[in-house]
Amino acid sequence: MLLNAVETALMNNPLRTAIQRHFEAPRLCAMGGPLAGGRALEVGCGRGIGVELLLDHFGAERVDAFDLDPRMVARAGRRLRHREGVRLWVGDATEIEAPDASYDAVFDFGIVHHVPRWRIALREIHRVLRPKGRLYAEEVFESLITDPLWRRVLEHPQTDRFDHDGFRDALADEGFNVVATRTLWNRFGWFVADRKAA
Ligand SMILES: C[S@@+](CC[C@H](N)C(=O)[O-])C[C@H]1O[C@@H](n2cnc3c(N)ncnc32)[C@H](O)[C@@H]1O
Repeated sequence: MLLNAVETALMNNPLRTAIQRHFEAPRLCAMGGPLAGGRALEVGCGRGIGVELLLDHFGAERVDAFDLDPRMVARAGRRLRHREGVRLWVGDATEIEAPDASYDAVFDFGIVHHVPRWRIALREIHRVLRPKGRLYAEEVFESLITDPLWRRVLEHPQTDRFDHDGFRDALADEGFNVVATRTLWNRFGWFVADRKAA
């Protein structure tokens, strides 16, 4: 689901960059460590800050990244035009345009909760990870998405959302081994999970 105007503004500003750079990425790195292998994918890359973090802080050598919104991909393209090893496209997390087992790591910086059929997105992420490949995810929970105040300003799918246990259990159902989880105010969560060995 595309972002509404309010959330587009919330995502494309220096405060969001600072939160992603100084809080979310360090937390995920502390939980899951740097990459064990150089090929990374970011689903829902927005304007490309995450791609920079994967290259500069997680040790990725090549980053593929896509977003449902062509305007976001255009922004990311401008931002990353001088970076080597980056490939961007417009795409959908429920139909990832990549062969099976093609990545060492996949990153989700707050996008899966935007996907109506989010379990299919987890299945796709699992499919494109190599055995023992690692998912790093930062997510937003049902309690915030369905909060009457937030519903007035942000637009999200409202049915079949998840909390910490729901996301963790869905990861396990899709064949992940959940390595670490953290939550904040029962509204936000961080997850590191590995595709099981073949
Ligand atoms: C909350 S923003 C996060 C953007 C970026 N990851 C960040 O952290 O700044 C969610 C992003 O997911 C994208 N998105 C929503 N549904 C998607 C889908 N099915 N497949 C890929 N991207 C999707 C939106 O266009 C938006 O850029």
